[in-house]
Amino acid sequence: MPTAPTDLCRYPIVQAPMAGGGSGPELAAAVCGAGGLGFLAAGYKTADGMYQEIKQLRSLTDRPFGVNLFMPQPSQADAAAVEVYREQLAGEAAWYETELGDTDGPSDDNYEAKLAILREDPVPVVSFTFGCPSRAVLDAFAEVGTYTIVTVTTATEAQAAQWSGADAVCVQGVEAGGHQATHRDDPYLDGTGAGMGLMALLGQVREAVQIPVIAAGGLMRGAQIAAVLAAGASMAQLGTAFLATPESGANPIHKQALTNPLFTHTELTRAFSGRPARGLVNRFLREHGPYAPAAYPAIHYLTSPVRKAAAKAGDAQGLNLWAGQGHRLAREMPAGHLVEVLVAELDAARVVLGLPAAGGAV
Ligand SMILES: Cc1cc2nc3c(=O)[nH]c(=O)nc-3n(C[C@H](O)[C@H](O)[C@H](O)COP(=O)(O)O)c2cc1C
Repeated sequence: MPTAPTDLCRYPIVQAPMAGGGSGPELAAAVCGAGGLGFLAAGYKTADGMYQEIKQLRSLTDRPFGVNLFMPQPSQADAAAVEVYREQLAGEAAWYETELGDTDGPSDDNYEAKLAILREDPVPVVSFTFGCPSRAVLDAFAEVGTYTIVTVTTATEAQAAQWSGADAVCVQGVEAGGHQATHRDDPYLDGTGAGMGLMALLGQVREAVQIPVIAAGGLMRGAQIAAVLAAGASMAQLGTAFLATPESGANPIHKQALTNPLFTHTELTRAFSGRPARGLVNRFLREHGPYAPAAYPAIHYLTSPVRKAAAKAGDAQGLNLWAGQGHRLAREMPAGHLVEVLVAELDAARVVLGLPAAGGAV
């Protein structure tokens, strides 16, 4: 079993797991093939859906890869607040000629069933978001030789991950696209500026834990990867940068919006899922973000038909366009080529820093 995440692949570049279709076997295989670490996103999938993707990825690459799991969420939904939001979204459903969704879907994301498959037929790496698994779960993965990574957004969460037996942490700065991995969602922190930028957080986590650290959030260029490596990260994890590649399964509307000058910036919002996630500011986010309740995954299920109908209608104003703060720098090029370009940029920056070239460890 590898002792460092850098033992898993040639370059210190991780393709972020992106649930909702962004990172499937094709993208992960392309990244693995180019010397990075590719990831499948099991979130929102059934256990069997996850397993089918694992089998497909194995048929495309023999390199190590990862699978990302959502931790089960304690239901904190205030039913009355969800019903008020349902009324506030009635106009959206009418506009897109659809119904609002049933909010009673599973809140555990089929966690136990997915664990059972991953223990039965182990994969090289498993990472977790929205919480930290128990020591028993992490020990069971260690027994079958799976390298485990827990995503964290504070130094305290990193200490909990180390204490529970994780092999590494993925430090997610507030710049990151998609959901914040926060272990306990606290609506009282909304709008307080409590979310930490990657560099500030990385410095704190590096001094709080001894296990390797992977850095994520707003990284789009090799020079930025060099910066996080210089700040003590072992690897860099990029989501938005890979979202724009042809191998990404993201909706074409979403891909185009990343660099469309109409979308000037991103915000954290609960509008689409009930949990803070960073997306391009569009009409839906602007109108409903201010009052969307803290009710994940109820709001995810509630808005699902509207998001699907907006995508079908080709309307970028009505669906979640997850993106990190660096989205304007997205490059539409094949994922394997993007890895090569990032490595060339990283090496150029390393020369400036007087560091050895990338790709030493295989
Ligand atoms: C479209 C999208 C979907 C995401 N889905 C997941 C996910 O399923 N699991 C996860 O751990 N992180 C997910 N993330 C967050 C990434 O792991 C990572 O933290 C983030 O992409 C880093 O910031 P960047 O997008 O600026 O590179 C997602 C990000 C995006 C953009």
